[in-house]
Amino acid sequence: MDKEAIKITKRGRVDVLAGKLWGDEGKGKIIDKIAPGYDVFIRANGGGNAGHTVCDGNNTHVLHYIPCAVLHTDKTFICAAGMAINPVDFMPEVLGLEKINPNLRKHLFVSHQATLITPIHVAKDMWRENGTGVLGSTKKGISFAYADDTEHKGFRLSDILKYSSREFLAEYENYRKRERKNFPLIPILLNDEISQEEKLWLKKVDQMRASIQIVDTVKLANELLLEGKNILIEGAQAVLLDGRHGCYPHNTSSHTTPQMLVGYAGLPMNAVRDVIAVTKWYGTRVGGVKPLSAMEADIDELFRQTGHEFGTTTGRARTCVWPDELALRESVTISHPNKLYITKMDVCPVDVVKIAVEYILKNKEHVSYPPMNLSDVETVVYKEVPGWKFENKDSIPENAINFIARIKKLFPFIEIAGIGVGPNRDDIIYPSSNDLNKIVFNFEHS
Ligand code: IMP
Repeated sequence: MDKEAIKITKRGRVDVLAGKLWGDEGKGKIIDKIAPGYDVFIRANGGGNAGHTVCDGNNTHVLHYIPCAVLHTDKTFICAAGMAINPVDFMPEVLGLEKINPNLRKHLFVSHQATLITPIHVAKDMWRENGTGVLGSTKKGISFAYADDTEHKGFRLSDILKYSSREFLAEYENYRKRERKNFPLIPILLNDEISQEEKLWLKKVDQMRASIQIVDTVKLANELLLEGKNILIEGAQAVLLDGRHGCYPHNTSSHTTPQMLVGYAGLPMNAVRDVIAVTKWYGTRVGGVKPLSAMEADIDELFRQTGHEFGTTTGRARTCVWPDELALRESVTISHPNKLYITKMDVCPVDVVKIAVEYILKNKEHVSYPPMNLSDVETVVYKEVPGWKFENKDSIPENAINFIARIKKLFPFIEIAGIGVGPNRDDIIYPSSNDLNKIVFNFEHS
């Protein structure tokens, strides 16, 4: 066998996991649970706008940057090229996590191609959100950082390595001068002098240079794959927030589809085995837009309180959304998962569940796939089904099984991999049969 053939035979596998709808689906818990099956975890995209929660039974940990398997020590963690990183938030997160994963920095590698978020990006985001053009962003500077990157005028993490502390300061001052000329009204740029906030940021940039392994993560990930390591790529946000296919302009700025997550990691498409999707059985949305199938105000409040639907990053109340088959269909069409986890099945504080099955457009056409322009929709048609109550975690109410069976019938080619019935790692129930006509659950594996 030639050398190349030996490498391919030994190659590990890649799985990729993405949220299905508009984020906050409980991806963190699923990743934490399936982590023992992998050696390497790659967070592919986004930045501090993401808030992933993992709960080890005793403590809850909120992660914004670091892959969600971080509670599992001795694994390798990669922050890939699609991420946007603000050292002011990143460094405290890493140092804080070392209380539970003491050697984290030895096992953590950050891409030299990731975008560096500056205080000016954050200030611009605040300025936009507090002003008239409210988009409902997380105010973390995300879109402005990626915009600078697209305009080829921002910083990447490679610049932290390229320059000494003094040289980096000079580079930042030059960049600041140019920005000040173009955006004189942004509060942080009102003064000629560098602010305290920027000084703190520069200090954290120095800390990153001194203590974080900034490397070519594409090369690293491919080497690990060829050594036979199994890799899980995790996406932040979710498919319907994708920077291209998502609900523009209320989408995020990085790409969230599994295809793009693999691209950010720089791994071969033909090494991908499972495309794993995670969705809550209902939906939630944050930001300056209300989905078409948003719940009625009183029910919305009921779900928010029962499901603790408040933003992990921003604390904002999330809008709760009835399960929407059209949104699901669109997401599946864009992202092609072969496995699906449905979370928060234990949260159902109503007797009647409404499922959006069709939209009627202003021209009276009935559609079962979202139209190009959502403002063309006049009415949402719902099917009502009975709600369910989980008495314990060792049995599933029949109405809940019927709900899952309905999703299975919509997407027969997708395996229902598990359902979430609580916040802890072990609050997942696995089907032992994915038969189209009868989904059976296996409680022994829960
Ligand atoms: P940005 O990513 O902060 O620029 O925000 C753009 C849009 O994506 C806004 O509607 C945000 O609320 C939404 N968004 C960004 N990150 C997340 C997330 O992790 N979960 C849910 N929504 C998000």
